[in-house]
Amino acid sequence: MSIQLVTTVAGLHTESARLLKAKQGTSQGLVPTMGALHEGHAALARTAVENNDVVVASIFVNPLQFGDAADLDRYPRTLDADLALLEEQGVDLAFAPSVEEVYPGGEPLVRITSGRLGEKWEGASRPGHFDGALTVVAKLLHYGMPAAGLPAGSAGTAGGSLPSYRAYFGQKDAQQLALVQRMAADLNFPVEIVGVPTVRADDGLALSSRNRFLSDDERDAALVLSRALRLLEERANAHEPLDLDSALAMVESQPLVELDYFDVVDPGTLEPLAENCRETPFRGEALALIAAKVGPVRLIDNVPLSS
Ligand code: PAJ
Repeated sequence: MSIQLVTTVAGLHTESARLLKAKQGTSQGLVPTMGALHEGHAALARTAVENNDVVVASIFVNPLQFGDAADLDRYPRTLDADLALLEEQGVDLAFAPSVEEVYPGGEPLVRITSGRLGEKWEGASRPGHFDGALTVVAKLLHYGMPAAGLPAGSAGTAGGSLPSYRAYFGQKDAQQLALVQRMAADLNFPVEIVGVPTVRADDGLALSSRNRFLSDDERDAALVLSRALRLLEERANAHEPLDLDSALAMVESQPLVELDYFDVVDPGTLEPLAENCRETPFRGEALALIAAKVGPVRLIDNVPLSS
């Protein structure tokens, strides 16, 4: 079936309710994006399509989460290609609203505050970013909520129970995923937040809409980020000490890369692990986080560690 494009909240509600009814569906999935879609977004969409009867993908470049107006202007906009990619994955509805549709009264006075979890790592380099991202995610989660259940006894429904609702986020943006999970839990959003593993290019670089701004040399240099993470992953898998310092030295030896942070943290709180694991073998669950500027582009990456 071909994808349908809606640009208003009213249109989204009408069309998603119509589709859910037509398919006698019991579940709806939402994939929030800012467009300029690549295989990473496609993986989110595919996972959503596999697990839900109706899938909505949103495409909205959210001004609230950009600190810098130039960065916002520069953000790539590729709607036709985005729709083709989403259709290929089997997404039913694309919701691509205008800024006025999402913020009819201008910038919202009341916002979600990301708190301590939003102030570190990416939040430290991009003040206000996560408050802006969470505020729009909260709105998108409300827009994408499935219409109330079909009448009791309808075929395919569990006696009129509410349809299930899931939303999909990439582990690529680990801090965003952790924050969205906490927001949904702390504020009782009736949605299951699903994390999807990072999709990488064959050479290991995590796919990102911003990679297109890297020159060939910068792209080569950027590979040190995923290599350093892989080194930690291999050490964790081999139950060896992580020796973060040697991985750090590897990144710092690359002249085109300006490192912002590189650390091993608790996956829930994102607090650095007390134990640096320099000499003792690593045990447990953790997340290795890295961020760096490569030429004009800020890149982030991470890898889950388990041993
Ligand atoms: P955007 O950068 O377009 O990303 C949309 C979703 O795709 C996010 O959940 C992100 O983690 C995921 N994603 C991006 N690259 C990925 C990759 N290589 N592998 C797996 N998933 C990947 O993140 C945002 O938009 C915005 O902040 C948004 C949540 C839409 C709010 O405005």
